[in-house]
Amino acid sequence: MRRKFAAGNWKMNGLAADLAELEKMVAAKPAPSVDTAICGPATLVHRMAALGWPVGGEDCHAVASGAHTGDISAEMLADAGASYVITGHSERRADHGETDADVNAKTRAAWRAGLTAILCIGETEAEYRAGDTLDVLHRQMAGSMPEGCTGENTVLAYEPVWAIGTGLTPTRDEIGAVHNALRDALIERFGTETGLAIRILYGGSVKAANAAEIFGVADVDGALVGGASLKADDFLPIVAALE
Ligand code: G3P
Repeated sequence: MRRKFAAGNWKMNGLAADLAELEKMVAAKPAPSVDTAICGPATLVHRMAALGWPVGGEDCHAVASGAHTGDISAEMLADAGASYVITGHSERRADHGETDADVNAKTRAAWRAGLTAILCIGETEAEYRAGDTLDVLHRQMAGSMPEGCTGENTVLAYEPVWAIGTGLTPTRDEIGAVHNALRDALIERFGTETGLAIRILYGGSVKAANAAEIFGVADVDGALVGGASLKADDFLPIVAALE
């Protein structure tokens, strides 16, 4: 009932020459049964969207326009052809001090512009080691997820901070236990129908080599992929593992 979803996050990577990788992805025509998107730097969103691949921004401001030098609004992303925007990525939380309240406001801004928010939560290594993972995730969900989340306007991405770009991943059992707890929390907060409709992606060192194993875990509806989304040859096998 939930469509599988492979989303890429190019982060602060990507020049015009790198659009050739997206062209290769488009040419490969992944199975229509899997949703795909690449969230790219604001400078490329328009050109990425023109290639015919679903595209997202990596962040948006909480308001539509105004005196906020250097910021990008959800309306601007939508105008450039985006359908998605990442909110609450741990790199935004760490580098820019974004709070759960900020992420909540940005997610509502995404909805106002007609974008689907890919809303990220995840524990740090210290929190993981202290056994606080679920407490942290529940707190982040409570603060970051606005009322009104649906399976259409929001995708939840679980990204353990210590697994991002490190080559480390939680065990299958750990991913399963977290996704199961997140599913229960979604149902408790938004009701059964909506709680079952919201997709939960895993993110953190997903690659072709571990994708099938991770996607075999219950309640993993796909992945948010960083480094391995930059090259078509790395990303397409991850998409294929969801087919
Ligand atoms: O948003 C995706 C991300 O943070 C994971 O990055 O490079 O570990 O796949 P990576």
